[in-house]
Formats: sequence, C-alpha cells, structure tokens
Amino acid sequence: QVDVDNFITDAVASIKAQVKDGRALIALSGGVDSSVCAVLAHRALGERLIPVYVDTGLMRKGETDRIKSVFSFMKPRIVDASDRFFSALRGVTDPEKKRKAVGETFIRVFESVARDLNVDYLIQGTIYPDRIESEGGIKSHHNVGGMPSVIEFKGIVEPIADLYKDEVREVARALKLPEEISERMPFPGPGLSVRVIGEVTRDKIEVVREANAIVEDELVSRYRPWQCLAALIGKGTGVKGDNRVHGWIIAVRAVESRDAMTANHMELPWETLNRISSRITSEIPSVARVVYDITPKPPATIEFE
Ligand code: XMP
Repeated sequence: QVDVDNFITDAVASIKAQVKDGRALIALSGGVDSSVCAVLAHRALGERLIPVYVDTGLMRKGETDRIKSVFSFMKPRIVDASDRFFSALRGVTDPEKKRKAVGETFIRVFESVARDLNVDYLIQGTIYPDRIESEGGIKSHHNVGGMPSVIEFKGIVEPIADLYKDEVREVARALKLPEEISERMPFPGPGLSVRVIGEVTRDKIEVVREANAIVEDELVSRYRPWQCLAALIGKGTGVKGDNRVHGWIIAVRAVESRDAMTANHMELPWETLNRISSRITSEIPSVARVVYDITPKPPATIEFE
C-alpha cells in the first residue's frame, strides 16, 4: 500500500517535471491503463491536460456514457467518429486487416484532433508487458509506437511504463476509480470489431453489443471470469413462430486465465448457460442460435479473431 502511495506521488511529480508549464494530450479509452494515466496527469497538470475520447462505435453497451460521466471532472472532449470507423471497415474480412483499419482510423482521427489543440506532450498508458511484447514482435495489437507520427510532440510521457497489470489495478483502486474501471476485464483495442467474424457492419455490431451485455450481466459478478464475451460467428437456420428464419449465430465464451497467454474455458452450470441462451434469443430477435465455446487456449485464442 505504501508502495502504491509512493508511486502516485512520484508519478505526479515526474509528469510535472516533464511537461513543465506545457499542455498534454491523452486518449481516454475506458481501459484501466489510460484511466490511471489520465487521473495522474490531471493531478499533475489540471486543465493543462486535454483528455480526448474517440467514440469508435465499437464500444460495449453503455461504455461511452460511463466514460463521459466518470471523467466529467476533467472535461474530456468527445469525438464521435463512428462513421469513419464503419466506412474504414466496409468490405474488410481479414482479422489483421480489420485491426489495421481500426488502428489507422484511430490515428487519423486523433491526429486531426491533436493538430487543432496545440499541445506539447502526449501521455500514453503503455505498461511493462506492452513494451516487452512489442520488442519481441509478439503482438500486432497494442499501442506502442502506434500513435501519430505526423504531429510533432515535444515528448511522450509514459507514467506507468514500469508497472504490471495487477499493479496498475492497485493504483486505480488507490486513486478511487470506480470498480468498472479498476476491475475491468480485458477488452481488445479494436473493440467489438474483432467479435464479429467477417465484415463488420453497424447492424452486426448492434447485435453483438447486446449479446455481450447479456453475457456480462449473467457472468461477471457471479463467476468473476478472467474474460467473458459473445461473438457473432455467422448465420444459421432457426424457427421463430411458424417460420424458418436465417438468423445470427452467437458464440459465448468465458475463460479463466492468469495472463491471457493460456486460458481455460469455464465449466459453467447448465442452468446459467440455458438462461444466457434464452435471454439472447428472446431479447435479440435476429439471433437464431447460441453456442458455448469449450476450447482452451491453445489451440484456440480468447477472442474469435
Ligand atoms: P487472444 O484472442 O489472442 O487475446 O487470446 C489475448 C488477450 O488480448 C486481447 N486482445 C486484444 N487486445 N487489441 C488489444 O488491445 C487486439 O487486437 C486484441 N486481440 C485480442 C484479448 O481480449 C485477450 O485479453
């Protein structure tokens, strides 16, 4: 605990020392890393911190509103860029190309915001494992080096670059961030786009967003999974009323893990699975079928793409 308090004091002092009387920009994502950095930077800089939240249209249900309200004290700028994200995703089916489309669109949008703001520094929520993984070239999917190059920042400030995830969570609790943030499950940077197999459209995102909300509602507080999710994996035949319909197939996944490198599917009670299935098919009429994924990682991954 003493460590955490010391860390906070030192981090705030170090942000002050780096930014001096300049202005700094941070991209809020709702994740624990950027949230912790934003609070630390706000303590150090006050109104000289400019938080920006880009609404990609790919967030979970209620998430954008929650971010607006949790961070309202630092007056974040909200940029609704969902049209740009959906048009960048049009026709893209390859999972890595989707990640690229979302990542590049994010950078373009963020760049144009930053250019208008006249800021000196960029604050980034890079954590220790991000640095290790990107040095090893393991993952293409996180933020290291993924920020605007066109803008000439005086410098990049990475207040939590030496912390592991569980340490970031401890700092988040000490900073009194709400549980939805400090205990938030991992959620991929490209958002719900990687939970739709094949081309991403607004309609499919609506379906998968509702399904994710139901799965989280049924599982998070009761079973505390490492991660649980719903993915839209295709279409299949069903019967609704007297008609055969061609409806969406939703796959439900719930896993236990220590570090996301390996994972085990949870052996959920039938009663819980039955309730999830009947809620999804009744609350989302375009879904005809619900399946539960019982593959560990490896050979599967946690996400479907
Ligand atoms: P996989 O699916 O590879 O995921 O077993 C391991 C962990 O990483 C998350 N994940 C991502 N995170 N951008 C991210 O920021 C991504 O593109 C991405 N893909 C997967 C996944 O949710 C899990 O926690």
